[in-house]
Amino acid sequence: MLARIDTDHRHISTLLDLLERKIERLQQGGAIQMTMLRDVVDYLHRYADQCHHPMEDILYQFYLDKTGQSEGEIHRLGHDHLALADATNAILDTLNMILSDQVVPRQRLIKDLQLLLTMQRQHLQFEDTVLLPKISAALDEQDWQQLQSEIAHKIQSDPLFNSSERDYEDLRAYLAEA
Ligand SMILES: [Fe+2]
Ligand SMILES: [Fe+2]
Repeated sequence: MLARIDTDHRHISTLLDLLERKIERLQQGGAIQMTMLRDVVDYLHRYADQCHHPMEDILYQFYLDKTGQSEGEIHRLGHDHLALADATNAILDTLNMILSDQVVPRQRLIKDLQLLLTMQRQHLQFEDTVLLPKISAALDEQDWQQLQSEIAHKIQSDPLFNSSERDYEDLRAYLAEA
């Protein structure tokens, strides 16, 4: 489970680097492939918000139950996941508007994308450097086995980085060449 979370984090990080390059290009007034940007955000919405974060929520709840805590980082985590889902959804709506030829001021798009990028990066950093090491130190082999069976039916196949999936073909091809 931890390995899956780590792998997801590496993948999300790769996409955030791509997002950063797209934002820079927008700032310089350049043209970008809007469908690819939409696919990056769509993946974050579809996979990070609906599979990766729920998996982490189960892990944190398990950790809190085991260590008898009811407050602390969990609040920040739950809050982060909700805020990320809201921000991701809002950007996805904006990008779909642009793709259906509605006018959205470029500066607004850039600002929203920058905010999403910052939130996503801070969240990854918090989990990687604070929360996951703490959890990993508190759980034993038996805990991980129990968790694994609890999440087994909830885990989806990664729609972008699993090579047997057929979604996001342009984005996958782009990442393979980058
Ligand atoms: Fe998370
Ligand atoms: Fe995460």
